Amino acid sequence: MILAANFKANKTRQETQAYMAVVESFVSANAIEDTIITFPPFTALEHTSRNVLIGVQNGYPVQNGAFTGEIALEQLEEFGIKTILIGHSERRHILGETQEQIAAKYRFFADQGFAIVYCVGEPLSVRQQGEEVLLSYIDAQFEGIDLSYLDLIIAYEPVWAIGTGLTPTNEQIEAVHSALRRKTTAPLLYGGSVKVNNAGEIMALTNVDGVLVGSAALSASDFCEMIAQAAELKK
Ligand code: PGA
Repeated sequence: MILAANFKANKTRQETQAYMAVVESFVSANAIEDTIITFPPFTALEHTSRNVLIGVQNGYPVQNGAFTGEIALEQLEEFGIKTILIGHSERRHILGETQEQIAAKYRFFADQGFAIVYCVGEPLSVRQQGEEVLLSYIDAQFEGIDLSYLDLIIAYEPVWAIGTGLTPTNEQIEAVHSALRRKTTAPLLYGGSVKVNNAGEIMALTNVDGVLVGSAALSASDFCEMIAQAAELKK
């Protein structure tokens, strides 16, 4: 299982340190073998960890250069970062990243050997048009994406489920995940309103290899509880 916590624009560096201390000691005390990843904000990247992977929520696909407000490879390397989130719906829909930009970012960080957590997912208006439309919408989010890249993890995150408390039914999650499984052997995470009270059930579904958690993972103890649920599944 893979459990990832996406902090988004939450937590200071100090809060992140306290959080990481809790999660790291939980992982070692319980001899957790699942893969645990956190995506803190850039300002908290001073932290290094032995048993929790630290990734970034974004990166600009250049070594360095004149890109005001961006963080490039050189700055990530300074912190030993080798894991990145690409294609998150907030970057697609709020920050306006196009599929072309996302694919360029993907190619660049794949060439650099980064582990990539690549997010796809449909808005509600697409979901309402039925499964065929939904799957072709998701297909388009794979344009320019090399699905045979070995260090790839895919996260299916319906836009309407992110931060809303709404989740698809288990059948709806399994339907999309089995379609994804036909395309790729990459691990498949589900994301969108995963909480302590539904994480275990979601992780137990066929073709679900883990979860990407936003708001509910802001509590270190809740995230640890989800890690414990994954360990119990022994999937
Ligand atoms: P959420 O966010 O858990 O708050 O719905 C998930 C995500 O955006 O990755």
